[in-house]
Amino acid sequence: MVYTGAGAPSVPRRFQFDHVSTYRKGLGMGFLSGKRALIVGVASDRSIAWGIAQTMHREGAELAFSYVNEKMKERVETLAHSIGSRLTMPLDVTSDTEIDAAFDLIKREWGGLDILVHAVAFAPREAVSGSFLENTSREAFRIAHDVSSYSLTALARGAAALMSDRQGALLTLSYLGAVRSIPSYNVMGLAKASLEANVRFLAADLGPRGIRVNGISAGPIKTLAAAGIAGFRKMLNHVAEVAPLRRNVTQEDVGNAAAFLCSDLAAGITAEILYVDAGYSTVGMSFPQENG
Ligand SMILES: NC(=O)c1ccc[n+]([C@@H]2O[C@H](COP(=O)([O-])OP(=O)(O)OC[C@H]3O[C@@H](n4cnc5c(N)ncnc54)[C@H](O)[C@@H]3O)[C@@H](O)[C@H]2O)c1
Repeated sequence: MVYTGAGAPSVPRRFQFDHVSTYRKGLGMGFLSGKRALIVGVASDRSIAWGIAQTMHREGAELAFSYVNEKMKERVETLAHSIGSRLTMPLDVTSDTEIDAAFDLIKREWGGLDILVHAVAFAPREAVSGSFLENTSREAFRIAHDVSSYSLTALARGAAALMSDRQGALLTLSYLGAVRSIPSYNVMGLAKASLEANVRFLAADLGPRGIRVNGISAGPIKTLAAAGIAGFRKMLNHVAEVAPLRRNVTQEDVGNAAAFLCSDLAAGITAEILYVDAGYSTVGMSFPQENG
């Protein structure tokens, strides 16, 4: 299923969901055939957005990608080309000018849009370590909420204008820190709480136009953004010990759920935060595993 056209860069096997591609062979059209999706948030092959892009590609969607700045351009384009996508654009979500330009480009190239994936978050590094009280400055609060929550509202405005009569779907990524205190997650937890409220308010506004808005609350996955959170490795180990499935989730786990939520299979689902976390968030108490 990986693009092999002339000039396509080869993508290491680690980046590909080969076993799912094999499973899909012979099953005919994917459940996102005919859909056009803008993926915001790819920074590396480990990005959750890249996992989502791969599953959406597997299910037949046509994809466009944004990159946050010129430094990221080549890396994102290489990944995009590896699955046959040629439509890429700069998009820093703190710039209204860049947001307008991105949706203008989509309108020119595609005429409309079916799916927007928002997988973007940022907080200054010092704010996601140590004491919440000591390390949450007014500026860190502002930046975290602007980049990680307001950006969904801003992108939804541009996307919704291109989704009339198309059963559009918006999807964002949240984390358990929205509803529970988690060591080091700090101000990002507040931003995720805002993001989850954002999902509900947008769903209420856009529902009458047939546009659905959902979020996935993902378990921890090692990505560039996650590496900035102090003690992240401890989180991974803890989840693998305590979660009902006794493992961490993968890019592919999240990608599959995202593809479903953005497809017509989920036509009755909106304003939902779906936990893709191996069940971790449901556990009230755990004891060290006993032998036998
Ligand atoms: N990795 C995890 O453990 C985990 C768990 C739950 C939720 N999430 C969420 O998933 C989403 C994706 O993060 P990830 O873990 O894949 O990390 P990542 O570093 O791969 O992706 C974060 C993305 O945000 C982008 N970004 C940051 N500031 C931006 C700006 N101003 N404009 C545009 N883009 C900007 C980065 O370029 C990057 O592509 C985030 O919302 C994150 O909070 C991650």
